[in-house]
This record gives sequence, C-alpha cells and structure tokens, in this order.
Amino acid sequence: MRGLSSERAPVPQDPAGASHPAHPIPFGRTPGSNGLAAGAHAVMTGVTRIFGSAVHALGPVDLELRRGEFFSIVGPSGCGKSTLLDVLAGLSAPTDGTITFEGKRVRGTVPDGVGVVFQEDASFPWLTVRDNIGFGLRRAGFRGPEAEDRVRHAIDFMGLNDFADAYPNQLSGGMRQRVCIARTLVMRPRLVLLDEPFGALDQQTRLLMGDELLRLWRASGATVLLITHALDEAAMLSDRIGVMSSRPGRFIEIVETGWPRDRTSAIAAEPAFGEVTTRLWNTLREESLKAMASQRRVAG
Ligand SMILES: Nc1ncnc2c1ncn2[C@@H]1O[C@H](COP(=O)(O)OP(=O)(O)O)[C@@H](O)[C@H]1O
Ligand SMILES: [Mg+2]
Repeated sequence: MRGLSSERAPVPQDPAGASHPAHPIPFGRTPGSNGLAAGAHAVMTGVTRIFGSAVHALGPVDLELRRGEFFSIVGPSGCGKSTLLDVLAGLSAPTDGTITFEGKRVRGTVPDGVGVVFQEDASFPWLTVRDNIGFGLRRAGFRGPEAEDRVRHAIDFMGLNDFADAYPNQLSGGMRQRVCIARTLVMRPRLVLLDEPFGALDQQTRLLMGDELLRLWRASGATVLLITHALDEAAMLSDRIGVMSSRPGRFIEIVETGWPRDRTSAIAAEPAFGEVTTRLWNTLREESLKAMASQRRVAG
C-alpha cells in the first residue's frame, strides 16, 4: 500500500507538520510568537454551528489545515460542509469555537489572503471575462499596470485568452467556472476555499478542471480546501481527505494519500488510487448505514 494512511477521529494535531507525505512543501515558517505551530495555516477548534434553536448543522469540529496542503472534505449531503466553509471563511459566525487564519482570529469578514469559489456560477453577466476577472482587484483599489498584469496572467493561466472579451453567456459551464476561479486567483489568495466548484460540470470537464486546480495549487503554493461530493475527485486531488459524518457534521476519518506533489488525474489509473477510494467509500457507507438506522429508530 503506497503511502495511504488514515486516522480515526479525533482529528490529529500535527504541530511539527512532520508527517506530511513524501514530497514536503517548504513551509517557510517556524513556531513563532503567535503560538502557531509550524505548518498550521488555518485552525478550527471546537467549532459548532447551530441555526436558530433547532438545526445543529456542524460540529464540534477540530481541523488544522497545513500550509500548502491540498485538503478535501467529503460527506453526505446536508452534513454541514458548506456551513464549515462559510464559518472558516468568516462569512458566517460559529455558535461556538474559534477559527484562526495565519495566527489571527477570523470573525465577521473574509480575511485578507483568503479566496472563496462557490458552486454556483458567480460571474457577472454584464461584464466581459476580462472585467469579471479584474472586478475584485478594482474593488480592492488595484489599478494601472500591476492590475492589468495580474488579470492578463490569470487569463493566460486559465486558458481564457480567446475569450477575454466575451461575456459569460457566450461560454460553456466549464469556461465560466474557470472565470470564477481566475477571479479568485487574481487576488493571490494564500488559502483557497472551494465549495463543490465542479458540481455542475460533466465528468470529462471535471477531470480537466481537477488538473487545472492541481496546476494552480502547485504554481501558487496556496493551501487549498476543496469540498466535493465526488469521492474520486477527492482521492485524485488531495494530500488529505476529511470524511464527515451525517449532520451534525464531524470528522470521522482523515485519509492521507501520500501522492507526489507533481500528480495529475493520471493517478486515477494507479492501484493505490483504488485503495483510497475504497477506504473513503467504506467509511461513508458505514456512516450512511448508521444514519439510516438512527432515522428508523426515531421514526419507529
Ligand atoms: N441559513 C440556514 N438556516 C437554517 N438551516 C440551514 C442554513 N444553512 C444550512 N442549514 C441546514 O444546515 C444543514 C447543513 O447544511 P449545509 O452546510 O449546506 O450542508 P452540505 O453543504 O453538507 O450539503 C442542513 O440541514 C441545512 O438545511
Ligand atoms: Mg453544500
């Protein structure tokens, strides 16, 4: 078995970032005065989210994203994945617990350095691809040659050169999602959060977008958190995969794949890939059976 390891909850704390898979990423950070462990980039501690007085959506959850890793979350629909992402991004306040990004408390606003990509197409239909991509930069006060440069680079990187002056409704779903990713990329986030960004795309486009995302992750050195319901996508792309229980979502297993940093979707043809997906599938299956049994008890 190649590099595959997994741990049962509680989520392991890895203060030294020592057990990172075969191709360590230079973290460029040592334990500092902020008390942040080397390698820890974003940390959730005892985070819960309860909507109103009745809907316990999430947690308590402990999660430590290591600087530069590609972490995916899978779990049954409605288990609190989007809630976790919103809370981590500062878009919604936790009911309990704390979140830090680069050693600072997250509350109320999306911290500088964090970029979010949502499932739904969030491009502005009245703006060209170029203006869509430059929108956040303009809003953040970037103008002139540097802004133009960044936009040009993002257009080029996402393969949108032929569409820079097109409007979103002239593009395919995959292209539009590329625009949304480019819009986030242009802000040079150090932590990228993606909530089922390829959910609406066909399988082949999803594969290609997965490769794009890997390329982007490598080139930017950013930490990536991807939420997906596709086990194969999670297995193919990630350093680690967190499997969530049904609502209220908690981590029941963290699987470490051990993939090399220069991986592509071709990894899906390797035997070790099958081991990872089987493991994810078994954990989710057990969880679904448990959830079903407890629903029956409630109903009965
Ligand atoms: N704003 C809200 N108000 C009340 N309930 C919500 C709200 N947002 C989400 N929920 C509920 O919280 C649970 C988790 O939702 P969500 O995080 O969107 O799940 P997932 O992304 O895993 O499918 C669901 O039961 C959902 O109906
Ligand atoms: Mg969701």
